[in-house]
Amino acid sequence: MNEPAAAIDGRTLIGLAVDLAEEAGALVAKMAATARSSPTTKSSSSDLVTEADQAAEQLIVDGLLAARPNDAIEGEEGASLPGTSPVTWHIDPIDGTTNYVYAIPAFSISIAAEVDGAMRCGVVLNPTTGERYEAVAGGGATCNGEPLRARRSDVLATSLIATGFGYNAERRRRQAEILVELLPTVRDIRRFGSAALDLCAVATGQVDAYYERGLNRWDLAAGALIAAEAGAVVADLRDGPPGPEFLLAAGPELFAELAPLLRRLEADSGP
Ligand code: IPD
Repeated sequence: MNEPAAAIDGRTLIGLAVDLAEEAGALVAKMAATARSSPTTKSSSSDLVTEADQAAEQLIVDGLLAARPNDAIEGEEGASLPGTSPVTWHIDPIDGTTNYVYAIPAFSISIAAEVDGAMRCGVVLNPTTGERYEAVAGGGATCNGEPLRARRSDVLATSLIATGFGYNAERRRRQAEILVELLPTVRDIRRFGSAALDLCAVATGQVDAYYERGLNRWDLAAGALIAAEAGAVVADLRDGPPGPEFLLAAGPELFAELAPLLRRLEADSGP
């Protein structure tokens, strides 16, 4: 029998996501030495993948299917399972694979559950530091149990802005052009290399804002909910939901200042 969306408890879903993120985190840590020595590439020479990305995705998919066999699943490394329940899981087994390969401690496991089109819960785990960010829609965001609150900067000139770059060479050129214009107008720029952790950095107040064009659903699903539950506005540049087209996350005042500027810079940088 089909499970009605209203009967699905976000707390149960987040419990499952947290357990699987922890198991996947332990696996990628265990595989680090061998996985790092033989990465391969996907869409371009900067788009890395390792055996650990694939093994961690398989572990998460197996765990989800065992607990909730009727849910749909989408994962970065190819998982694409249709479901019959209202739940779709979005998995990034290692967000920040380049950092993983170079042993930079800024990669994460990101798992989110969408119920009837709305993100219900998400977890982002940094397995190196043990920082585990969680949110359930309407229930706030936490890091290792501590409530999170995004910064309320309202002055662009004194704001620290994180961003990221896609893997397509032409897109990277445009992203760099926009940065040339933005950098002189802000306090500074950060490029950490994991979109999920960038969004958690907005939630903790480690940065004032984060933006990126071209993210995939699995990169942003959990982190966007965590940032929003910490009080940030997370949207595209046209008052729509964040997505592959664009994602900007910032406190409401800074969002209102940054969105028109980014809209103009994006338009100036070409089609
Ligand atoms: C990438 C990271 C990076 C962002 C890229 C993403 P991956 O994810 O999140 O920070 O700038 O757009 O594709 O490939 O490491 O899972």
